[in-house]
Amino acid sequence: MTESTHQPRVFSGVQPTGGLTLGNYLGAVKRFVEMQDNAWQTIYCMVDQHSITNAWAGREGTARATREVAAAFIACGLDPARSILFNQSQVPAHSQLAWVFSCVARMGWMNRMTQFKDKAGKNAEKASLGLYAYPALMAADILVYHATHVPVGEDQKQHLELARDIATKFNLDFEAPDFFPLPEPMIEGVATRVMSLRDGTKKMSKSDPSDMSRINLTDDADTISKKIRKAKTDPEPLPETLDGLDDRPEARNLVNIYAALAETTPEAVIAEYAGSQFGTFKPALADLAVEKMSHISTRMAELMSDPGEIDRILGNGADRAAEIAEPILDRTYDIIGFVRSR
Ligand code: TYM
Repeated sequence: MTESTHQPRVFSGVQPTGGLTLGNYLGAVKRFVEMQDNAWQTIYCMVDQHSITNAWAGREGTARATREVAAAFIACGLDPARSILFNQSQVPAHSQLAWVFSCVARMGWMNRMTQFKDKAGKNAEKASLGLYAYPALMAADILVYHATHVPVGEDQKQHLELARDIATKFNLDFEAPDFFPLPEPMIEGVATRVMSLRDGTKKMSKSDPSDMSRINLTDDADTISKKIRKAKTDPEPLPETLDGLDDRPEARNLVNIYAALAETTPEAVIAEYAGSQFGTFKPALADLAVEKMSHISTRMAELMSDPGEIDRILGNGADRAAEIAEPILDRTYDIIGFVRSR
């Protein structure tokens, strides 16, 4: 079997910790929707087991966050009939394969993970073992479906490289050439790294203490508009060419956001707005963001008013996901030599 004999299959995951932001939307969920429209099977997961690696949001908070990501997925255009939508903890094959991968991944590889260093901070001794092992579970999320394509933002690149290393080493060590595909990271488009609205050198993040630094998918039209109008910028007008944005991270970020929302290129945005002041550009961007995004919060609120329906969708998705994952886990156990007597 060669890599190309694995049928194309898309998998990606989002952590249900806090609400989703414009960064999650442009870097991930919007692209999940685009991929749903091609002929490939698409599987999208709320990775609730990852969400407890750092801190616990409480029983209600954890459940609510998972349902809220499901509502966001659907409000952004994912269709539970065409994509498999489910939460990780309902498909035990993920954590079962993660154990195997914990025995494949090397300490040296894990020690290089920059997200662990960022999240653990100065006090790595107090970080959970789960936070350290996080990338092995992430590799299992993908490979338990033999997924071949993984749409993610730029910050997940290193984790995807690790997933490829784990797949390669498993195939070699357990003498199963090409059993696991080497998943392709799909880090594409102009919004693979959306930056904070308050500091163009920092990633837009749900954990930033300032709510003005991000647009949340739950923000209504007025809030979206206000946040963009108040976004940090510099006093210069927009330049004639893209190169003119090289040392202007806040301006570059707003141009990228505009391009991603309008489904055009940053070059085209600059061509249209060259010489404009932010007093002109920011209101245009605010109107565009409201037009493209404000329906999401309205639809999310409608969906969240019926949690039973969300749970039904997740349960159905989990059944369909398990149907794909379980035979792959069985084959993995068989390759290893774990006795399967039932
Ligand atoms: P998470 O939950 O932090 O983010 C979900 C997705 O959103 C992207 N993203 C961004 N893209 C552009 N600009 C930003 N400012 C921005 N912030 C976040 C992320 O790159 C991601 O694609 N480890 C993953 C979840 C995960 C996963 C997986 C992903 C678990 N298992 C398997 C893919 C495949 C994470 O914490 O993403």
